[in-house]
Amino acid sequence: MCGIVGIIGRKDVAPLLIDGLRRLEYRGYDSAGIATLVNGSIDRRRAEGKIANLDARVREQPIDGTVGIGHTRWATHGRPNEANAHPHASARVAVVHNGIIENFQELKKELQDAGRAFESDTDTEVVVHLIHHHLDQGLPPVEAVQHSLKRLNGAFALGILIAGRHDLLIGARMGSPLAVGYGDGEMFLGSDALALAPLTQRIAYLDEGDMVVLTLEGATFYDADDQPVAREVRQTALSGALIGKGEHRHFMAKEIFEQPQVIGDTLNAMYNPAQGSITLPDLPFDLAAVPKVTIVACGTSYYAGLVAKYWIERLARVPVEIDVASEFRYRRPVLADGGLALFISQSGETADTLAALRHCKAEGQHTVAIVNSPESSMARESDAVLQTLAGPEIGVASTKAFTTQLTVLACFSIALARAKGAIDRKAEQALSGALAEVPGRAAEVLAHDERIRDIAQFVADARDVLYLGRGTSYAIALEGALKLKEISYIHAEGYAAGEMKHGPIALIDETVPVIVIAPDDEDELFEKTASNVQETVARGGKVVFFSDAHGVERMSETALYAIPMPTVNPFVAPILYAIPVQLLAYHTAVLKGTDVDQPRNLAKSVTVE
Ligand code: AGP
Repeated sequence: MCGIVGIIGRKDVAPLLIDGLRRLEYRGYDSAGIATLVNGSIDRRRAEGKIANLDARVREQPIDGTVGIGHTRWATHGRPNEANAHPHASARVAVVHNGIIENFQELKKELQDAGRAFESDTDTEVVVHLIHHHLDQGLPPVEAVQHSLKRLNGAFALGILIAGRHDLLIGARMGSPLAVGYGDGEMFLGSDALALAPLTQRIAYLDEGDMVVLTLEGATFYDADDQPVAREVRQTALSGALIGKGEHRHFMAKEIFEQPQVIGDTLNAMYNPAQGSITLPDLPFDLAAVPKVTIVACGTSYYAGLVAKYWIERLARVPVEIDVASEFRYRRPVLADGGLALFISQSGETADTLAALRHCKAEGQHTVAIVNSPESSMARESDAVLQTLAGPEIGVASTKAFTTQLTVLACFSIALARAKGAIDRKAEQALSGALAEVPGRAAEVLAHDERIRDIAQFVADARDVLYLGRGTSYAIALEGALKLKEISYIHAEGYAAGEMKHGPIALIDETVPVIVIAPDDEDELFEKTASNVQETVARGGKVVFFSDAHGVERMSETALYAIPMPTVNPFVAPILYAIPVQLLAYHTAVLKGTDVDQPRNLAKSVTVE
């Protein structure tokens, strides 16, 4: 997703703008640029590709100026090239934008008819010419921006420079996040607190519809009705140190290997080992009275929610409805009075999920956000937050955020079941005790890294890969398939193992690796999955089998590869079995030579619908 930085200070801002953009690289992008005011005029440097290209451009052609804006672009309208890279500018205005202007075609035609010449294919450029038009009509900068914002439909976070006004830096927000950083005699704009962390820990967030005018002295916020308004300044906890990869080749590998630690950190925020009990943060509603749970998320976070559906219904006997956020509110869901809606999101900024949260709030649901970013829009707009303590996740492919989401959801499921009286203290102690073993078991699973890297050789040559599982392992099969396709670009599908007979088994031949997730559990699921494996192998399928020692022993003659996982309470199996499918995807992608941390076309936080 696009990233924005802006600085108004007393020294040249170009190096700081580029450093700020480097901290936004993890969001995914395809071009970058900066603009400053030099002797009152707008000057720009832009480059296709990585920030290193922009840095080289600035070294070739240095750019001065004590006020400026910068941008990493994740293309929505217009090819990823220099002409479409931000900032977009006219002689009087420069703009960087994150989001989508949905009525840009209409505005572009209106502005072209009024004589404005466009130089790019982007939606963003209409903002430049709208503001320029209002300035030409004699409106002062703040009013010119306010009039222009009212013409925009869609989502935007904006950074705006006005030629001749090096004393101003203007920001605006509708749908896409934007933060203000408070420095000493300088002020900052950023898409998130991470971008501003080296510059300041004092952050304020724009609310929906806000505009902000920054000067060297501070910030003046205006609400959607153009009325001055105060916004809380908070102390962010984010470190200013640029996050490194340690001894790992990629952030994704580092984050996979951080999982024992961060799962433990997340669990310890709610688990009392002496009591064997789970205590959630205070909720502003009575959990025992919740008649139904609705879960909404996207991508990997959705698969975490799918695991939770099984947990909640089995333990708490509370009905759960789950949906991907992009479908949810458009199907006019039937929500229970007094119901609880859970929103799962690593970034806390995913536009579809945030829109679903707002829909549920408007419908009177209790809302809880399960996020990794405590200062995100979802965290600030929900009734309560259950935070994953994964630390910043830089790799676009979500790994440690996923297993810490599962950890939070497992704790939530236990707490809900206790509140409902569906499980007793003894069951709570057994389930939370099983959770307490997960960090250690996760470290055991990571010891299979080399073995899984060898298996990746087999997968890397495939054109299609199938992942199979039943129960909560079905959700892990879906997640494993997503991991593989999003970073290795190999087509992969996750399927409920019992569904193979209803079509997908037609895909099976010796060229299709079949990854089977099958912990040996107390239900008959293992036996049924074992039958599905036999059906697959009988048709030439090559099976990679993940199970505990007993299951592996049962399948050793059938599967091409069988990886023994720790024997654990089936309740916590999904958290552990996520790790081998992450490793398999990672090593396959490395073999394919893809950009593992920033896969093509993807963004870390999708802040457009
Ligand atoms: C997961 O590896 C992907 N990066 C993607 O599916 C992601 O989970 C999805 O975009 C949701 O993001 P969020 O958790 O920040 O809301």
